[in-house]
Amino acid sequence: MSPQTPIAALTVTAADLDAIAEAEGRVAVCVGKDGKLDPAARRVNRLTKGALARMIESGALEKAKSGDVKTLAWPAGMKAEAVDVLCVERGAKPVEARKAGAALGKVKGMGPMLILAGAVRRAEDLALGAVLRAYTFSARKTAEVDEMQGITVQVAKPEEVSAASVSAVAEGVFFTRDLVSEPANHLTTTEFAKRIKDMEALGLKVKIMEEAELEKLGMGCLLSVGHGSISPSKVAVMEWMGGAKGEAPLALVGKGVVFDTGGISLKPAGGMEDMTMDMGGAGVVAGALRTLALRKAKANVVGLVGLVENMPSDRATRPGDVVTSMKGDTVEVINTDAEGRLVLADVMWYAQETYKPRAMIDLATLTGAIIVGLGHENAGVFSNDDDLSRAFLKASEAEGEGAWRMPMGQAYDDMIKSNIADMKNVGGRDAGSITAAQFLLRFVQDGVPWMHLDIAGVASVKADTAYAPKGASGWGVMALNRLVADMLEG
Ligand code: BES
Ligand code: MN
Ligand code: ZN
Repeated sequence: MSPQTPIAALTVTAADLDAIAEAEGRVAVCVGKDGKLDPAARRVNRLTKGALARMIESGALEKAKSGDVKTLAWPAGMKAEAVDVLCVERGAKPVEARKAGAALGKVKGMGPMLILAGAVRRAEDLALGAVLRAYTFSARKTAEVDEMQGITVQVAKPEEVSAASVSAVAEGVFFTRDLVSEPANHLTTTEFAKRIKDMEALGLKVKIMEEAELEKLGMGCLLSVGHGSISPSKVAVMEWMGGAKGEAPLALVGKGVVFDTGGISLKPAGGMEDMTMDMGGAGVVAGALRTLALRKAKANVVGLVGLVENMPSDRATRPGDVVTSMKGDTVEVINTDAEGRLVLADVMWYAQETYKPRAMIDLATLTGAIIVGLGHENAGVFSNDDDLSRAFLKASEAEGEGAWRMPMGQAYDDMIKSNIADMKNVGGRDAGSITAAQFLLRFVQDGVPWMHLDIAGVASVKADTAYAPKGASGWGVMALNRLVADMLEG
């Protein structure tokens, strides 16, 4: 019942020119702008009786950019069905190599692919890009989907390219994409919790808290969101304590609204189906912890996600209701569609009370306004701590996952003052993403470095992105993984 998209099996080998003629499926050669052929490309050229050189001499690559692919179909002299000529410089930087590899992942059919990357220095990044881009979500199709077959990469120094670390990253990203892609009738709060619980097999400690317990803890904000739904609200807690004993963990907190109808403040019908991705923050937290566990990170990290469904019903929260948070502050619910901040407020408070984290990062598909501001290229970064946000921006840039810092301040906080409660849950149309962040900041304890990532624009995109076909991107898993490596393992 929990289908998981497998990553294309990745094999790393030393250069082996004699394997080229017999390789089935697709064979990819890497050529820089100078058009020079490396030994593997020269072998392909010889086998194809000069076809590769003719292609290059024809000027086919002259206007090519890094990551462009030109295909020679059904080449004579080889078993392969196609030779893909990838334009990539041997000294390509990591993100560039990754994006070039992704171009191969895009052309990859269901057969195997042999990538001749001996000349490329960042071959591991190239391989990761190919694996990430070869993703398809097919769990909800009944038509037979061919098994995705393996990717073999021939490299100059096999000891420097780790298939295991590529797989650890890709599996975390795929886990997130699967969760984000799943429709809400399949990925209920219960099913989501189960998939998280299943990660105990990887050595994570997982706790699922049910409504009765959340009630006892006083999570009135979170519970008010799930009230209208038949699906029970839950909080899932994942612990990866691979670091020093007793050292305060980094806390990752995710919004897991499995479907957001808006509640009584119902959303319009057009496009509402997209709200199946409103658990994207929780999806990234779960995927990041999966990657950390798979690579046995030497760091203490906890992931906490609030799993709820926002539905209208006779039990649903009404506009105007006042609810009480676990912190004790009261919130006037002006608009039941501003539900993500209510969920996060209680989970963030619980995370701080329970773990006294050294830093806290929350992720959420929180506002449509962030899409108006930043589109689908960058997530919004909000923080009370320059060091934390700078470290994250550096990590996200290194991974090729866009992020942009946004301002905060007292004047924005003033916009969520309520007449009858401690605050209201919306601040009006202006600066909608910032007032949402200000709401969250009210639930950050003194001295806790905190960062909020509004991923509404990047979690699922209607066009192909650098590393993913259209749909769920898995944005953030790689950046968080690197941040953990830089900040906690460095
Ligand atoms: N889940 C939405 C935000 C969203 C919008 C995510 C589009 C992904 C794509 C969130 O719960 C929401 O409804 N926000 C409202 C807030 C408003 C009522 C203050 C919004 O952005 O319109
Ligand atoms: Mn909403
Ligand atoms: Zn929402």
